[in-house]
Amino acid sequence: MTTDRALYAARERVEQLRAEIAHHDYRYYALDAPEIADATYDQLMQELRRLEEEHPELIAPDSPTQRVGGQPVAAFGVVEHRVPLLSLGNAFSPDDLRAWHRRISALAERDSFAMVCEPKIDGLAVALVYERGKLARGATRGDGRHGEDVTANLRTVRTIPLSVPAADVPPFEVRGEVYLSEKAFEQINNERAEAGQPLFANPRNCAAGSLRQLDPKVTASRPLDIWVYGIGWSDGVLPPGHWEAMQWLQELGFRVNPESARLHTLDAVIERCLAWEEERERLPYDIDGVVVKVDDFALQDRMGAVGREPRWAIAYKFPPKQAHTKLRSIEVNVGRTGSLNPFAMLEPVRVGGTTVKMATLHNEDDIRRKDIRVGDTVIVQRAGDVIPQVVGPVLSLRTGAELPFTMPPRCPSCDAAVVRPPGEAMSYCPNQACPAQRFRLLTHFSSKGAMDIDGVGEALCAALLAAGMVEDAADLYALTKEQLLTLERMGERSAQNVLSAIAASKERPLERVLFALGIRHVGSEVAALLAFHFGSMAAVVRADEEELSAVPGIGPVIARSVREYLGEPRDRLVVEKLGAAGVRLSGGQPARREGSLAGKTFVLTGSMAAYTRGRATALIEGLGGSVGASVTKKTDYLVAGEAPGSKLERARELGVAVLDEEAFRAFLGEHGDVS
Ligand code: IVH
Repeated sequence: MTTDRALYAARERVEQLRAEIAHHDYRYYALDAPEIADATYDQLMQELRRLEEEHPELIAPDSPTQRVGGQPVAAFGVVEHRVPLLSLGNAFSPDDLRAWHRRISALAERDSFAMVCEPKIDGLAVALVYERGKLARGATRGDGRHGEDVTANLRTVRTIPLSVPAADVPPFEVRGEVYLSEKAFEQINNERAEAGQPLFANPRNCAAGSLRQLDPKVTASRPLDIWVYGIGWSDGVLPPGHWEAMQWLQELGFRVNPESARLHTLDAVIERCLAWEEERERLPYDIDGVVVKVDDFALQDRMGAVGREPRWAIAYKFPPKQAHTKLRSIEVNVGRTGSLNPFAMLEPVRVGGTTVKMATLHNEDDIRRKDIRVGDTVIVQRAGDVIPQVVGPVLSLRTGAELPFTMPPRCPSCDAAVVRPPGEAMSYCPNQACPAQRFRLLTHFSSKGAMDIDGVGEALCAALLAAGMVEDAADLYALTKEQLLTLERMGERSAQNVLSAIAASKERPLERVLFALGIRHVGSEVAALLAFHFGSMAAVVRADEEELSAVPGIGPVIARSVREYLGEPRDRLVVEKLGAAGVRLSGGQPARREGSLAGKTFVLTGSMAAYTRGRATALIEGLGGSVGASVTKKTDYLVAGEAPGSKLERARELGVAVLDEEAFRAFLGEHGDVS
């Protein structure tokens, strides 16, 4: 039995060890300047671990031993931000910066004030609340007002202090950007490629995916990092300006970007922005611009905000990353719906920090419209998102030897004659038995957004098809261990894991199953609408084209495609086999808080990449909200896509909350999990 005195001594030592380890973590992870050898550090950790094992009552969430991640959770809780997280207005040129400066100088009634320039980190925003000097809660930005409670995951981020040296500091909230370095991103993707798992498109997606893991152990295995860039609120007294506040945070052990600079003239600010645009590749992490902030807090208050954008700060955005290279050839691959997708094989070129060898070309019409020819020197672009694109040819470098592209008349995988439905931009391989289609369909079925079957990646799908063990996705459920064991590199344990993962997928909600089937035009959103509206696969099967297209957000093209799919005996059989195998084909929808938008009115303006107006309306209405035609005082949210009209101005005048596409997606995710 432990005596009180022994426990007391242990507690003292534990606290001492934690403080020492926190200090060395900061030196090692944040400053990259360790003071002690790794072995010495390990000894400190070991001693702490031993003491915590002997006295489990001393284990605390802020102990560095807890960085490995705790128990998985079923879903994240929702956190209401005490002070909303704002967004930033954009500047795309020095002139935009000058115009911004003129506007705020008028408000400040002076044109000379200090500004702080910080790299705009391309990661995801988090808010960290410290109470009694300890990390009490960490949340994502969400829609700015409500975020997800990801405390357990944030605790695993080495550069987030679990406690600060001053225990008596009044509660405060630090804000910052969680991100992954380019190197860490590449390493994660390499490992995923080897394991046959889908790759992350860029460091930001990878960071977001890592932070929003229900199992904190997964988060702990990813070397996430943070740069803090502000204080959300504080119950104590703050320094007079942003720069000093950042210094204070740094003293408390937070990671403040050393690239930041306090400058005193607009010219110096513009010079800094242009310099970073040139130097962005020097940084080991992705930045997509520079954030310029008025330093003085009193001035910030005087300038205030318009809508959800403060006037005292602006994001100078870099143009998308582009490069020139040679287009070696145009290849075609076969998608899961049989679509023939042309893509460019390029002479490898560095674009925005990564080497690009391939780029999408969308479809035949697009290639023709842009007049892209094989042999052209082309402009390749990597925008904020994902897959590199070919913007167009550099016409001045044409030699005359370039060759226009035509879609092959036969499927490159099975040699079936290609068809192009009237009115569609895509050509298709109509052969349902096409090996390439089967492979894509199967990998799609088991992929993360679909049935999410861990371990059934590209390599295993290919092996299963080659061995004739499966012909369609439903056959996965009939696989036996004996069969799996005959495959190369498949041991007892992995076979069991694969079977367990397949069995677990039977419980996926209906919308996932609908998406997983790979019906042409049925992406995850349409699948969610169908599941939400019909509630069961049987009801979808019964619905005719008219009933299908009566669902808000579903048009005649989708309705026809669903009917065609279900009218095809072979596809219909897959659905029936899934039911017979015990896959749940009704209900089981994710925790959609129906009516969670009840009473809220939205107005839509501009265009969004991922949502048509009809679909956005359907999603909002599906959750009980309503969509109005014009912005009034009663409007709760304006959803503003690209090229928004005067509604945006109006919303700003009235102080109506504005959601851009990203915020809208996050918002739907939080309110209904349908995006
Ligand atoms: S300040 C009102 N500083 O950019 C000030 N944001 O478009 C709001 N970001 O949501 C943020 N680096 O996620 C600020 N140094 C930085 C930043 C930064 C990246 C992100 C942040 C924010 C978004 C605004």
